Amino acid sequence: MKITKAVIPVAGKGTRFLPATKEVSKEMIPIINKPMIHYAVMEAVESGIEEVLFVTSTGKQEIENYFDRNFELEHFLEERGKSEMLENVRNIGNMIEVCSVRQKEQLGLGHAISYAESFVGSESFAVILGDDLVLSETPVTAQLESIWKTHQKSVIGVMEVPNEDTSKYGIVDGEFVDGKKTLKMNKMIEKPLPKDAPTNLATPGRYILNKDIFDCLREIPRGVGGEYQLTDAINLLAKKDEVFAHVFDGDRFDTGSIAGYLNATVEFALRSNETKEIMTEIIKDKIKRYKL
Ligand code: UTP
Repeated sequence: MKITKAVIPVAGKGTRFLPATKEVSKEMIPIINKPMIHYAVMEAVESGIEEVLFVTSTGKQEIENYFDRNFELEHFLEERGKSEMLENVRNIGNMIEVCSVRQKEQLGLGHAISYAESFVGSESFAVILGDDLVLSETPVTAQLESIWKTHQKSVIGVMEVPNEDTSKYGIVDGEFVDGKKTLKMNKMIEKPLPKDAPTNLATPGRYILNKDIFDCLREIPRGVGGEYQLTDAINLLAKKDEVFAHVFDGDRFDTGSIAGYLNATVEFALRSNETKEIMTEIIKDKIKRYKL
């Protein structure tokens, strides 16, 4: 048994990136020379996922187009003998099978996931948020899949955050069942104050969910912000069935926020052989110039 399907919701308005997101999807904003969504899909491919469903909204066709072939561009590059670039462009079009469904109204992440029901059928599936990027040796989705293989239950990806930051995240409450990495989850608590937080394990956007999540999504009322929250549905699922949380290995970047985006840009540039020296020089120059 393996996880072969991933759902990547991209229907959000991306208000933290306005005005850029007035006409461009947040997920198409590049980190160095690849749009954010490229890294998320790459994680899926490297985790053995075979099919991706984008939950989209009006004006997001560019995301589907990006993962399609562009014969005109390929011809242009071929004629000019730019063979390396041609291969890169072609590979993106052949990366993975993608399909999409429109979320008609943006009523929250839980609402977006409910659109995946017929795509998923009776299988368990991965959810990858395209604006949460993780740099890790083993892709996070593959790390979660290995826990799912053991327990055959939903698995929520979690990461340790400083105690004073618990009020910025959904925090997991549960008991460790396997050393200090995997917990049986009791519940998720939205943004608790440090004094009320049962753990410092936060939930960025990585999940393996089983099909029962769709019943839970139907049962929950609107939650915080008047939206259907995935967190509420997972809490309901944890009451009916076992749900696990797993502390994944890797560095996570919240590229849906300006601070996280800037951090990821510098980090990705420093980790790439092509841009490492350039970025190092830029940083040194700025430190000197602005006496930082
Ligand atoms: P965010 O909370 O980051 O919302 O959504 P957003 O609209 O993308 O960005 P801001 O906060 O306004 O800047 C988390 C993920 O859930 C998706 C988003 O596309 C993002 O990947 N989402 C959110 C949907 O697909 N549909 C929704 O109704 C809400």
